[in-house]
Amino acid sequence: MKGAIFYSGKYGSTEQYASWIGEAIGFPVFDIKDPKADPSKYDFLILGSSILYFRLSIRDWLNENLSKLEGRSKVLFSVSGAGPSPKLNRWVAKSLPAVLAAQMEHVALRGRLDHTKVSWWVKQMLWMGSLFNPDPGARKDERYGFDYVDRNSIEPVVELVRQFQHQELLVE
Ligand SMILES: Cc1cc2nc3c(=O)[nH]c(=O)nc-3n(C[C@H](O)[C@H](O)[C@H](O)COP(=O)(O)O)c2cc1C
Repeated sequence: MKGAIFYSGKYGSTEQYASWIGEAIGFPVFDIKDPKADPSKYDFLILGSSILYFRLSIRDWLNENLSKLEGRSKVLFSVSGAGPSPKLNRWVAKSLPAVLAAQMEHVALRGRLDHTKVSWWVKQMLWMGSLFNPDPGARKDERYGFDYVDRNSIEPVVELVRQFQHQELLVE
């Protein structure tokens, strides 16, 4: 089985998870901005994406590469401030072309927000968002930042890959 990881992130946490997963399972890791990032060369794909403004940042790339992604086995890991919840599942579902959503396993990982790394404008947007956020924990995270990045949380992704590799061995 030939597998690879394709990720989209902005502030480093999705890249960090992609690199840890790559180390754990021995797959090459590609930033989707890399022109060499060609999913059609692989039969097992791990797709990683940050959530920004309630959407997967990888969604445009998914639409552009739909024909190369369909029919290949896929695991998606999202990286967000919010933890796993129906709300997060809805954001992910809205960002995915329907045909891919049905063919994908999703694992929700939690990221990092460092206010010293975002622009003044983004900080204002986050502050505004916090004013309307009914969840006190999420409100605090938006205002002051957070760091939930944890290497151990990649284990469900690694386990899905192992299960897939095991099934492949059984049918060979
Ligand atoms: C501008 C901006 C918008 C964000 N929007 C959301 C959001 O809608 N939901 C959420 O759970 N987290 C949101 N976050 C938190 C990010 O998902 C989190 O910081 C993630 O780790 C970013 O991944 P990256 O470091 O790979 O860019 C947002 C962060 C920023 C800076």
